[in-house]
Amino acid sequence: MTTQLQEIAYSPEIATKPEMLVCKDLRKVYPTPKGDYVVLDDLQLSIKKGEFVSIIGHSGCGKSTLLTMIAGLNEISGGQIIVDHEPIRDAGPDRAVVFQSPSLLSWLTALQNVMIGVKQVFPGASKAQKEEICKYYLDKVGLGNDFHKRATDLSQGMQQRVGIARAFALKPKVLLLDEPFGMLDSLTRGELQDVLLEIWQKEKITAVAITHDVDESIFLADRVIMMTSGPYAKIGDELEIPFERPRNRKDVLEHPDYYDYRAYLLNFLNH
Ligand SMILES: Nc1ncnc2c1ncn2[C@@H]1O[C@H](COP(=O)(O)OP(=O)(O)O)[C@@H](O)[C@H]1O
Ligand SMILES: [Mg+2]
Repeated sequence: MTTQLQEIAYSPEIATKPEMLVCKDLRKVYPTPKGDYVVLDDLQLSIKKGEFVSIIGHSGCGKSTLLTMIAGLNEISGGQIIVDHEPIRDAGPDRAVVFQSPSLLSWLTALQNVMIGVKQVFPGASKAQKEEICKYYLDKVGLGNDFHKRATDLSQGMQQRVGIARAFALKPKVLLLDEPFGMLDSLTRGELQDVLLEIWQKEKITAVAITHDVDESIFLADRVIMMTSGPYAKIGDELEIPFERPRNRKDVLEHPDYYDYRAYLLNFLNH
């Protein structure tokens, strides 16, 4: 089964696209009282423009470390991260991040929370134009009637919807998601996966989503990247997910290859 899965050709549509995100010889060392801890070492990663990649790996292997380094929020100890052919230096709105907890400003409305980033990215736009961008994405995430609700009055799922709207509204080159639905109940989680894919399908932003949920990794991605356990973690394997898009959960779950993909990923995690 393994060989059969690995023989599946990389989607021709994606294979011809230029690279949007490249990690070259990436290394991360955290100093600890007991000495240096090498989390990531010699990590190579290349993601095409418009590709949706999931990253799975055991807790503590360095997934968040990798993502925050790509976001420019965590210093690189060695190697390079290249976004759209330019090595990154620090954080920037070309890489929008959605964390597990959206950390909205609780006293501001949904609209105002999205506006903060939009103001920075589109300083020349008129107030009406900026509002239009915010409202467009809030509407897309299903908050068309909640523009003026304060963050504190929104459920956790609705807050995460604002987090997703806020990220897309920046029109980033790369969307980075770190276990974005990890705190939500399974129903809300499924709804938000659908919302995310729907917007992504329209915008075709290059996306990297960390998840520890194997089903989520398959449902979302064109390719699932498997990280080895640390220390010295790197990419251990990867699996193309060629299911057609736009995706629908029922079709994906009923696809004859679904359980082979699932078993392949679980097998990696269990060894
Ligand atoms: N600031 C830090 N200082 C020291 N060690 C850290 C720091 N941040 C994370 N680590 C360690 O690095 C490893 C990887 O952490 P992390 O990237 O959060 O893993 P994951 O997201 O895969 O669960 C863990 O062993 C964690 O304890
Ligand atoms: Mg993490």
